[in-house]
Amino acid sequence: MTFDGFETLAIHAGQEADGATGAVVVPIYQTSTYAQDGVGGLRGGYEYSRTANPTRTALEECLAALEGGVRGLAFASGMAAEDTLLRTVLGPGDHVIIPGDAYGGTFRLFAKVLERWGVTWEAVPQSDADAVRRAVRPETALVWTETPTNPLLNITDIEALAEIAHDVGALLVVDNTFASPYLQRPLSLGADVVVHSTTKYLGGHSDVVGGALVVADPELGQRLAFHQNTMGAVAGPFDAWLTLRGAKTLGVRMDRHCANAERVVEELAGHPAVASVLYPGLADHPGHKTAERQMRAFGGMVSFRLRGGEEAALRVCERTRVFTLGESLGGVESLIEHPGRMTHASTAGSPLEVPADLVRLSVGIESADDLVADLRAALED
Ligand SMILES: Cc1ncc(COP(=O)(O)O)c(C=O)c1O
Repeated sequence: MTFDGFETLAIHAGQEADGATGAVVVPIYQTSTYAQDGVGGLRGGYEYSRTANPTRTALEECLAALEGGVRGLAFASGMAAEDTLLRTVLGPGDHVIIPGDAYGGTFRLFAKVLERWGVTWEAVPQSDADAVRRAVRPETALVWTETPTNPLLNITDIEALAEIAHDVGALLVVDNTFASPYLQRPLSLGADVVVHSTTKYLGGHSDVVGGALVVADPELGQRLAFHQNTMGAVAGPFDAWLTLRGAKTLGVRMDRHCANAERVVEELAGHPAVASVLYPGLADHPGHKTAERQMRAFGGMVSFRLRGGEEAALRVCERTRVFTLGESLGGVESLIEHPGRMTHASTAGSPLEVPADLVRLSVGIESADDLVADLRAALED
């Protein structure tokens, strides 16, 4: 008999009771090094905490199980995970396809860092898989996708992109931060690598910054582990512990995030000050059918555009009381932000620039009635 339900894995994968004490929660192994019984005589397989640490190992095994991968790797931040991945698999002359609206930090990594190392990139609106097929070239080494995208909530067909990438021998990387493994499992749809900012839904409580990679191929996992150790941007023991603690409740939190987001969408869609609501759960969202196929539910992120333009968008952001004005997302508390001036300011003047009248919500797990009332009051004339 196997116990492999998502919620069971979240609580138990990689998290055996502690062998020495029976503690049911994996301890925070706050140590840099490990005593050896004679030179090379490692007691538990650990020698130095940049290379491996038991708390981090528990998190890495749990993440691999949740994503249905063979290996997970935990990093100091989502960007550290991305950087380690890209410098492991790319080299000068490689070409990369990124989404038309990637997370601003991902865009910045390609445009301001990797470009200097001879990697070229091209932003393609990936909700149209044919556009990606037209854009791939023999030197395309990697297709990077986010779905749903940050902040426009566009949807990409992961299976279609995996086929296109693999036809030219490229890897498909999916940033699964917005959906979390509870809502979407890209490796089962053909992706090669899943990236997370575990700062978001996996950690879930806005108290830790972290990142992760999960892969389906053990050989790639090995190469990434080599680079993780070589570059050293690892998750510390306490950060790994906080993330592991958050991951245990991912399923129940996501259910509530999604239910609350639906209530918020209903309110916004009928509001006269709102020009449009961007949410893949809406039947008229262009990616709705694909999202329905590849996601369990539509997530807790909602974006909307204001009829009153940028001024109205900034006003709403400054008027909410339950939604806190702040960057980041995926925590239990609701957040509101203006992507053009905040999270995506680095895309200004680029093909990834976001509309000035756009507001992004990370819908938390507070009372849905309070969230709706807060937005209604903030949108009043
Ligand atoms: C979709 C997405 N990917 C990656 C990142 C980067 O993660 P971190 O902030 O943990 O470095 C973020 C951060 O906001 C994000 O939203």
